[in-house]
Amino acid sequence: MTSTFTIAIDGPAGAGKGTLARRLADHYRLNLLDTGLTYRAVAYALIQYALPLDNVSAAETAARQVDLAKLDRTVLSAHAVGEAASKIAVFPTVRRILVEKQRDFARTPPGAVLDGRDIGTVVCPEADIKLYVTASAEVRARRRLAEIESIGGTANFAEILADIVRRDERDMGRADSPLMPAADAHLLDTSEMAIEAAFLAAMAIVDDVLARRNKA
Ligand code: DC
Repeated sequence: MTSTFTIAIDGPAGAGKGTLARRLADHYRLNLLDTGLTYRAVAYALIQYALPLDNVSAAETAARQVDLAKLDRTVLSAHAVGEAASKIAVFPTVRRILVEKQRDFARTPPGAVLDGRDIGTVVCPEADIKLYVTASAEVRARRRLAEIESIGGTANFAEILADIVRRDERDMGRADSPLMPAADAHLLDTSEMAIEAAFLAAMAIVDDVLARRNKA
């Protein structure tokens, strides 16, 4: 492996990219950054101070204060924080501040797996590997419902689906860095694929790139 190696993973909410990123980072001993947590941290700060989500200068201040070493998934994983994150993620100045931090992280040896919405297109356009992980909105909604039920909760499938569709529209429709596959991304559709199969498919892609490098 070269001194830094970057795997960029993008895709919509609930496609399984987080689990895949973790498995790949463990396997290849790379650092791991869930960039969604950085947008969530900004949203969380605004919520904490009861500030409106369209207060751009407060969002910029919160973005500057984001410490990648202190992102607390337990607090940030709340559904409402994800929704708010998707709203503040439309502001270009906020994105620029967070993207700089994400790039610094990616440049730290031995390299990293980063997952998000714009990693292959904007944050790390020179990534060694780009994966675009997707699944149909129905499958993602079914998975989310199962997840909620597995911890004893209840939810309505139609509402979850509507939520997912709305979030996709916002993340794919924004003007700055919309969610889309990079031209050179490998597409992984996990609609009909267990996460283990997706991991094996991703590993085959990475191993192939590494084998070619070693030969060159
Ligand atoms: O992946 P997630 O659900 O934690 O992301 C929350 C929101 O943050 C997502 O709806 C859009 C935004 N986001 C982004 O705009 N760019 C990223 N690289 C990661 C997340």
